[in-house]
Amino acid sequence: MGMQSVAVACGALALCLALSTATNPGFVVRMTQAGLDYARQQGMAILEKELAQLKLPDISGKSRKVRYEFSRLRITSFHLPHSQITPISNVGLQVSISNAFAELDGDWRVKFLFIRDHGSFNLKIENAYMKIVLRLGSDTTGKPTISTSECSASISKVRVRFSGKLGRLYNLFHRVIESKLRKSLERKVCDNVAKSVHNELQKQVRTLPVTARIDDKIGIDYSLVAPPRATAQSLDLNLKGEFYSLAHRTTVPFSPLPLAFPSDHERMVYFGASSYFFNTAGIAYHKAGALVFEIPEDMIPKKAGFSLDTSVFSAFIPQLEEMYPNMSMKFRLSTPTAPFLTIGPGGISFQPIVDAQAYAILPNSSLAPLFLLSLTGNVSAVINVRSGRIVGSLDVGRIRLSLKDSAVGHFQVQGLQSIMNFLTSRVILPHLNARLDEGFPLPVLDRIQLSNILVRFHQNFLLLGADVRFQPRG
Ligand SMILES: *[C@@H]1O[C@H](CO)[C@@H](O)[C@H](O)[C@H]1NC(C)=O
Ligand SMILES: *[C@@H]1O[C@H](CO)[C@@H](O)[C@H](O)[C@H]1NC(C)=O
Ligand SMILES: *[C@@H]1O[C@H](CO)[C@@H](O)[C@H](O)[C@H]1NC(C)=O
Repeated sequence: MGMQSVAVACGALALCLALSTATNPGFVVRMTQAGLDYARQQGMAILEKELAQLKLPDISGKSRKVRYEFSRLRITSFHLPHSQITPISNVGLQVSISNAFAELDGDWRVKFLFIRDHGSFNLKIENAYMKIVLRLGSDTTGKPTISTSECSASISKVRVRFSGKLGRLYNLFHRVIESKLRKSLERKVCDNVAKSVHNELQKQVRTLPVTARIDDKIGIDYSLVAPPRATAQSLDLNLKGEFYSLAHRTTVPFSPLPLAFPSDHERMVYFGASSYFFNTAGIAYHKAGALVFEIPEDMIPKKAGFSLDTSVFSAFIPQLEEMYPNMSMKFRLSTPTAPFLTIGPGGISFQPIVDAQAYAILPNSSLAPLFLLSLTGNVSAVINVRSGRIVGSLDVGRIRLSLKDSAVGHFQVQGLQSIMNFLTSRVILPHLNARLDEGFPLPVLDRIQLSNILVRFHQNFLLLGADVRFQPRG
């Protein structure tokens, strides 16, 4: 692209910025060599089964006046004891299989001058070699795709044993037969590999939940922002990693920062959840009105030693006694702006700002606004993974109060400190933590279970490591 066309393409600077930053993933899934090896083992078990069902066509022909026919060719076993998987940059994965062996049996029939004979035979394949290149890509919906871009199979040794009276006769044509069967097999093996990749592997990779619905309001966009990226050591899936409102999705006013993935490789799979991922959750929940929380009087535990009413609060705000005597109260908590957190090597740092509006409940049940407090504090988060979901729990240090607005005149907010501490730690946090404990789904394929979880914090992202177990169907 010449300078001029760059200038034209970036005529609208904002658009140009949007285009150039849109490619940073908000979420990365990395499969390490250990993960690829596990996938290879599972894949080989499936392929062995598929190849054992391979159907070969009948073979007939004539060799030195012997007319022969081989029918009912049936593979009895197929073993793939040695295989290797390696990522290939810009393509996908290469699977090499060596020393494969198989057995096959069938019926034979020959005609030689006036002699006719028939029987069964057994064929042993030894030292078969296969090379399969899997191309990885993504479709327009951001789902991964996988296909066979190259397949070759070569069988170096085939041994046929005929059962029947006229064994010597068959020596006349066994070379021809072995070569024909070998060619037929070599072709069929690749046909079956392609079918198996299409029917099994493609189906499996397409179970990636590119739009993970969380509830009736919020979803997570886990679509690929680029085709899967193979490097010498790993296979990376760069995903959007964005929470959004199902009702109406809006553009996120900031972009994901690049994730400097460490070269850790002790786990099979790593998930990098950027601060972007968490902050879009903040936006989506804030926009959906889900970050509003009411505390009515009956939510205060009996043993709290106080109740939510104006006679209790008038100890700190004397004006209440006169203006709203002996009335029940309630708090309405909300976030004035979407909460925003940052992630660094020390963990998640998060100082959400919460508005707490106090109301008196009048005898006719309508609400009289009393005062508006702004609450903030340092929130610490503990993150874990359970049943394929990110779960968390929050704790808050000392909360800081300030008076934002008051309909009952000025008062010293410090008086309310212990009541607000109590509401935060005993009412709000348990409620929030119960929700966070349900967790949010990670982008994992169907029938994959995660174990041996590792949680680490890096600049701008949370790193989760896990080992993988594949649950076969049925
Ligand atoms: C406050 O109201 C309760 C019932 O709502 C009543 O039983 C109580 O006597 C009232 N106290 C005063 C001091 O008015
Ligand atoms: C409830 O009572 C207050 C004051 O007594 C009054 O201002 C308000 O209009 C009443 N609301 C309704 C819905 O009747
Ligand atoms: C939060 O932590 C920072 C640094 O650790 C500190 O400066 C700040 O005062 C804390 N805020 C509150 C509300 O405790």
